[in-house]
Amino acid sequence: MEVLQNFVVFEGIDGSGTSTQLDILKRRFDADKTSGFPALHAAFEPTDGPVGRLLREALRGGQRLHPQTLARLFSADRAEHLYGEGGVFQLAKGGALVVCDRYTLSSLVYQGIECGSALPAALNAGFPAPELLLYFDIEPSAAFERMENRRQKDIYERLHFQIQVRERYLELLDSCRAEGSRVVVIDASAPVDSVAHVVWGNIVMLPIMKGCAL
Ligand code: TYD
Repeated sequence: MEVLQNFVVFEGIDGSGTSTQLDILKRRFDADKTSGFPALHAAFEPTDGPVGRLLREALRGGQRLHPQTLARLFSADRAEHLYGEGGVFQLAKGGALVVCDRYTLSSLVYQGIECGSALPAALNAGFPAPELLLYFDIEPSAAFERMENRRQKDIYERLHFQIQVRERYLELLDSCRAEGSRVVVIDASAPVDSVAHVVWGNIVMLPIMKGCAL
C-alpha cells in the first residue's frame, strides 16, 4: 500500500472532537508567520463537492439510500477528493501539509457495520494510506453528552451504533499500522486544550516540519 507523505488523518466516533481539533490546528498554522511552517490544508470527508453534498443529505436522513449505495458514494467522493483538481494528492505531493477529518477508515468502520467488511474493503483498497493517523478515543456515552445540544442528529448518531463504531475502530487500528501509517491513539475525553497539545506534539514530529522554528 502506498503511503502518502504529508497526509494526516483524524478519525474517531461522532462527537470525538476531530473537527474542533482540526480547527485549532489550522488556526495555529495560520497565525504563525515567523516559524516557516508549510501551508496547512484542512480537509474533510464527506467533502463539500457534489457527491459529498448528496452524502450529507443522506446522513441527515433527507434522502434514503441503501447502505451499499452509501458505501459506493463515500468512495466516489473520496476519489474526487484525492485525485480531482487541487485534490489531496496534488497538494501533499506539492509540499503542503494536508490534514483530513475522516478518510478510508471511516468507511471501513461505519459502512463495514452496515454492509459487512468486504464491500468497503474492496472500494477503498486503492487509496493511499496517510503518513500519520490520529485516532481520537472516547467512550460513546461521553461523546453523546457533548453532542446533546447539537443540531439534528445524523443517521449514525445513535448510542448503540456508536458503541459498535468504537469497537470496530479499535479492532482496525492495527491493520492501518500494517499498511504503513503511524497510528497514535489520543485520549479525546481530556480537555480540548490538552488534546490540542497532544495533536501538536505529533504534528511537529512529521518530516515536513523539519527546519521550522518550533
Ligand atoms: P462528521 O465528520 O461527523 O461530520 P459532521 O461533524 O459535519 O457531522 O461526518 C459525518 C458522518 O459521516 C459521520 O457519522 C461518519 C460518516 N462517514 C461514514 O460513514 N463513512 C465515511 O467514509 C466517512 C468519510 C464518513
